[in-house]
Amino acid sequence: MSEPIMQVVDLKKTYPVPARHLGERARELRAVDGVSFSIPKGGIFGVVGESGCGKSSLGRCLLRMEEITGGSLLFQGEDITKLSGNALLELRRHMQMIFQNPYGSFNPKQKIGSALHEVAKVHKIPRGAAQEKITHLLSEINLPQDTLNRIPSEMSGGQLQRLAIARALLLTPDFIVADEPVSALDVSVQAQILNLLMDLREKFSLTMLFISHEMTVVRHLCDEVAVMYLGTVVEQAETEELFRNLLHPYTQALMSAIPNIDPDRKMERVILQGDLPSAIDVPLGCPFAPRCIYCTEQCRAEKPILREVAPGHHVACHLIGEAGA
Ligand SMILES: Nc1ncnc2c1ncn2[C@@H]1O[C@H](COP(=O)(O)OP(=O)(O)O)[C@@H](O)[C@H]1O
Ligand code: SF4
Ligand SMILES: [Mg+2]
Repeated sequence: MSEPIMQVVDLKKTYPVPARHLGERARELRAVDGVSFSIPKGGIFGVVGESGCGKSSLGRCLLRMEEITGGSLLFQGEDITKLSGNALLELRRHMQMIFQNPYGSFNPKQKIGSALHEVAKVHKIPRGAAQEKITHLLSEINLPQDTLNRIPSEMSGGQLQRLAIARALLLTPDFIVADEPVSALDVSVQAQILNLLMDLREKFSLTMLFISHEMTVVRHLCDEVAVMYLGTVVEQAETEELFRNLLHPYTQALMSAIPNIDPDRKMERVILQGDLPSAIDVPLGCPFAPRCIYCTEQCRAEKPILREVAPGHHVACHLIGEAGA
């Protein structure tokens, strides 16, 4: 396997929760609670889970858009956990983010060409070189050159997300976080954007953290997938292995929420009941226990650790033993 671009070691991100009344102790919300993985050069690492499980917080931490509460981050071998000031600004040149809502990530009054040139200017790319690169990127994302004279409201959501991808690639980043980049788009357009990303990953050797709340989306694009629940990873494996052998009850529930995904697959239908509990004052034991149909006394008392149960396949569940038994 090639050198890791990003190594995440026991990462923690908490947010302070204001006291509700005088005398109440200060509490904290554990958005990311001890997550570890590494992404090799050219790899796409997927993070999947319900809304509120900590995916965006994790993504923002990796880009150092957030202060890190605990653990460490190595980017191309360099410890970036506590980087600040100019060193942090320099780091950001090498990393980019693609957001969920493309309309929110462009100034509605600014022409597309001007928005792209502005990014190039901030990062001191000479105008001629920037123009050349923008021309090339527009053809890579299959949009005509006159797009540069348009404003965001003249573009469709899918077209604008293509442009957000082009903007992210303008600085030739070493690492990209794509935070639910297809969730706001029509289903018919989602596949086009995923195919574009597949195509571009080869051409630009993209290394990416790809966030989604949908199992089918990460399956399509990612090499490896981590399933997150209440700030922790409950299952992680290479994509093929994960989907061949879904082990954690939460992963099974996420998968069986998708209608008719694989009619031949004899998987017991597990319905996900209730909402994701609060990440404030997470109780002892397995975080999934209140919603798990297999929950036992042990589950309520003891938090399962993430263990390797088959080569490269990690699961945090008391019921899953060696070899996924
Ligand atoms: N800036 C913030 N301040 C306080 N709480 C936050 C902040 N950002 C996220 N959270 C909380 O952290 C948890 C994880 O949120 P988030 O990372 O946005 O999850 P996801 O992207 O999976 O929906 C949620 O409980 C959310 O309310
Ligand atoms: S540890 Fe227990 S509660 Fe948690 S997922 Fe496994 S069976 Fe369910
Ligand atoms: Mg999010």
